[in-house]
Amino acid sequence: MNMFSIFNIHENKIDTNKYISVKGWIKNRRHLKSGVTFIDMYDGSCLNTLQIVAHCSLPNYYEEIENLTTGCSIVVSGKLVKSPKIKQLYEIQAKKIKVIGNIKDPSKYPITSKKHTFEYLRQNSHLRPRTNFIGAISRIRSCLFYTLHQFFCKKGYYWIPVPIITSLNSEGGGEMFRVSTFDFSNIPIDNFLKTNFKKDFFGRESFLSVSGQLNLEAYACALSKVYSFGPIFRAENSNTSRHLAEFWMLEVESAFFTLKDLMDLSESMLKDVVGTVLETCFIDIKFLQNVLNIDIVNRLEKFLSKKFFRIEYKEAISILKKSGKFSDNILSSEINLSSEHEKYLVEKYFKLPTIIINYPKSFKAFYMKLNENNETVASMDLLVPSVGEILGGSEREENLEILDKRISECGLNKKSYWWYRDLRKYGTVPHSGFGLGFERLLSYITGVKNVRDVSPFPRTVRNSNI
Ligand code: 4AD
Ligand code: MG
Repeated sequence: MNMFSIFNIHENKIDTNKYISVKGWIKNRRHLKSGVTFIDMYDGSCLNTLQIVAHCSLPNYYEEIENLTTGCSIVVSGKLVKSPKIKQLYEIQAKKIKVIGNIKDPSKYPITSKKHTFEYLRQNSHLRPRTNFIGAISRIRSCLFYTLHQFFCKKGYYWIPVPIITSLNSEGGGEMFRVSTFDFSNIPIDNFLKTNFKKDFFGRESFLSVSGQLNLEAYACALSKVYSFGPIFRAENSNTSRHLAEFWMLEVESAFFTLKDLMDLSESMLKDVVGTVLETCFIDIKFLQNVLNIDIVNRLEKFLSKKFFRIEYKEAISILKKSGKFSDNILSSEINLSSEHEKYLVEKYFKLPTIIINYPKSFKAFYMKLNENNETVASMDLLVPSVGEILGGSEREENLEILDKRISECGLNKKSYWWYRDLRKYGTVPHSGFGLGFERLLSYITGVKNVRDVSPFPRTVRNSNI
């Protein structure tokens, strides 16, 4: 007998009155005294469930089927028919139901059909994929990931897997997670009573990478258009709704690209992927719209149809000053934008995605290209309503002397960056790149406020359990 997914069935490609099989889990079931059980079955292939009609003439009806509860796994074989109910297209009149896995103690099963809080679901990260909510997020996530790869493939970019373990802090600062094979109770000490990293696995201090950018630049200076997409680790003690200790970043690096090229690419990338996801995942997005009670579809359509605002950092400061809302700390352009400032700009003032360019050099990393005024760098931050910064990038400093000056100004050790400096010594080229926070983009698309709810197994301060 042919096995089909519920998605296949709803795609309308299967003739009714055919005998087919489906596998999945029970969302709900209803036993009627007349000797019929209606089962709503899901298999995760789509949001839809499929109704199974089980009659008491089935050999295991009283012994097994009547005892089935939410969460049990089953294999059903039977006739696919058009459903008499308006709400669903099809149902299966079961000829055979094989019970695969029961629920040990149904009264203790954590995922009931009632609405759970985000916090509760996070505590049950291993079981929450069974909810419609996380199911929808997961399908949208997968589509977004694939679509991003497709976008760069279409544009002639090559994918480069950058290392996860590194001895460099690519951002020149920020807390990193250490990678070591030392026995914590017996750490080797050198003659100066300092930890002897020469005896560690890599023979030097090593960490999980905070960005693959520097390695990616090496490939951009040879293949011209490259990108990477992988996990990133940051040990900042930031307990906010937009910070994860482990998240995914898409990084792009293009030789001969200017800041303007970079802004154009990031805007067309976002519009391309959001458009595709909206179309492909429309049913899941509509479902989230109902659950979260926000107008996601309209918001995304506006995102697609309007040009992003592009403003200078100093213009952003003057807008904030004029607002009269931040008078205490926004008097000079030596203030870095906080999430409150960003919120005001994109949610209250522009009400649309906004790219802020040319930040003061003191707020940005050593590798960003110094503008002629010697004060600002050719940088861009792309902010969207309700999430804030989802993407950050810049032209890269391709002049070795200026780069060296910036490295020392930032208190970094030139020697550690020897190979990065080589890229400027040997056939240097103007180039630019950006990093896109994958979970933050997903959070924006789905309207889910906290990135922990769009990450399958979120890693945050004091949370690496499930
Ligand atoms: O702005 P960031 O720190 O930029 C870089 O790391 C550059 N090296 C990227 C590049 O130019 N290749 O990070 C880029 C994006 C941010 O805009 C944000 O969306 C996301 O990564 N991000 C985080 N997402 C979740 N949790 C965190 N702790 C994040 N930190 C940054
Ligand atoms: Mg940034």
